[in-house]
Order: sequence, then C-alpha cells, then structure tokens
Amino acid sequence: MRTIPVILDVDTGVDDALALIFAVKHPAIDVRAITCVAGNASLAQVVDNTLRVLDAAGAPSIPVAAGAIRPLLAAARSASHVHGENGLGGLHLPATNRVPEAVSAVELMRRSLMASDERLTLVALSPQTNLALLLRTHPEVADRIERIVFMGGSASVGNATAVAEFNVWHDPEAAAIVLGSGVPIFMYGLDVFNQVSVPQDAASALATGTDALGRVVGALLGNRIALSEDESLVYTGLIGDAGAVCALVDPDGLGIEKRPVRVELSGYGRGQTIVDRRRYSGEDRLHGGIGEWADIDVALDVDATRYAELFLDTLGLAG
Ligand code: BDR
Ligand code: CA
Repeated sequence: MRTIPVILDVDTGVDDALALIFAVKHPAIDVRAITCVAGNASLAQVVDNTLRVLDAAGAPSIPVAAGAIRPLLAAARSASHVHGENGLGGLHLPATNRVPEAVSAVELMRRSLMASDERLTLVALSPQTNLALLLRTHPEVADRIERIVFMGGSASVGNATAVAEFNVWHDPEAAAIVLGSGVPIFMYGLDVFNQVSVPQDAASALATGTDALGRVVGALLGNRIALSEDESLVYTGLIGDAGAVCALVDPDGLGIEKRPVRVELSGYGRGQTIVDRRRYSGEDRLHGGIGEWADIDVALDVDATRYAELFLDTLGLAG
C-alpha cells in the first residue's frame, strides 16, 4: 500500500488526541514527526498530552518537538472552557517514558523535510505559528512540502467569534503567512468540522467497554463539548481535527472547491477566513485591486456518516 508521509502539527487538545490516534492507526498514513504549539492548552501541556496520547495509541517511536509558546503577535488565549484545564477535558492518561526531541519544532520539521526522499504533507490541526516560523526561517523547504492540510477557518460561521474559527483567530498573522506561501493548501474548516460526530450512546458504550483504546476514545468523545447559546455545556461528539486526517485518506468523502481565500487581520473580523464563493466577478475585481488572496482547495461538504465510520473502523471500534 502506498503510504502518505506526514508531519502533524498539534495543540493537543481533545480532538487533536482523536486525530493523533487515527493517524498512527491508519495503515496508509506514515507519521514522520509531530510538532507541538500552544493553542488549546499551554505548550508544556500540549507536549505532555501528545506524548501520553501516543502511548495510549500504542504508537511506534515518533519524534515529537515543542514549538511556539504563543502566537506571533497576539497574546495566547485559553480554550479551557472546551478542552479543560489539562487540554484533554480532564482525562488523565498514564505517565509516559517518551520524551520530546532536544530540537525545536521548526528544526524538527526542517530536518524531516530535508531528510525525506519524497515530499511530506504538513497537517496543521492547530494555530499555524510553527508553520509560519518554518516558512519564514527556512523558505527553501517549501519545495519539499507536498501540500499543507489545515484544520481551520470557515466559509460560513465562526466559533471563536461569529466569523472566526479558533485556530486562525488564535494566530491570524501566522495563517496569513501560510496562505501566502505559495505551497498548495487544503482547508478543512468548520463547514465540515462541525458535521462529523459519534452519537452519545456509541461514545458511552466505548467509554465503559473493555477495550483499552476504546475506553480512551470514548472518554475523549465524551469530552467533546461546546457552549450552547444559554452557555451550558452540551455534548457534540465531534471527531473534529480527526476529520482533517480522514481527508488525507478519503478525499472522495468531501465536496471540495478551489476558491480564493484571505485572512482578515483587523477589526471584529480579525481571524476570519473570507472564502470567495462567487460564480462571477464583482465590482471589486472590475474596479481595481482586490488585495491578497490565495487560491486553495476548500472542503465545503462532507459525507459525515462515511467519515465517522472511517474513524471508528480504523480504530477497530466500529459497533
Ligand atoms: C479547532 O480549535 C480547537 O479547539 C480544535 O482542536 C480544532 O483544532 C476548532 O476550531
Ligand atoms: Ca487542534
């Protein structure tokens, strides 16, 4: 089987944990390195969570490195209302003997890209601070990147704000640098992220079952929550970031369009990804400059049942 060599950039994070488990379990995905960035939790917590999740998944030895402790310009902001104080929704995984590499995330990405015979896919499930630093520090690696697949942005509603998705909102300048890099980019945004979920009864059955990995996955899914409009916490069961990893191996489960996209950097729209879905040119194009846009592939629809089944099947947890 032809495998897809990838570097995962994570801010683990309940759904980053689901994505890591899926990635190391899927036979067509070859995880060459994992880099960590502050986002859903502090950098130290993200690194610790990532190493523990790899143990829980029974992963082989994979180099893990710590990256940026905060966004390029913005202040780091907590996501503890969704991911809990420890980033895993309060799930406490056993301590691990795994340790991070003695090099930075940027250096681990650079080395992995330069050492590989084939181009690598960068999968960012997190604020894109590490990727922006890589592309600004070592622009020569751009040729070694097959494409960047990122979970982030939205062509419709936001979650961090009414229009901005968390990963892009957390570090908009980094996302703008990545979009402007010229590397082929695939956006797995909230339009699809918000559709793929595991029903609560299935998650509960896993959490209370006898399979060790199933118990971890069931607990993580049980911690997939959101603030409802009345500010109470509700179960979502979203596989979240794991859907962006599913997209690597099952692109046919998505409706994808190539669209011009830009990141807003100021005002209330800061962190919004504007996706131009017009079929015809508008006055802005006719009457002069329309600013910086990147033509990228955007996932706009997903066969949610197919992706939820792919996720559970790959983990050997289908009912
Ligand atoms: C994204 O932000 C985090 O909460 C999730 O892990 C996901 O990467 C969703 O907006
Ligand atoms: Ca994430």
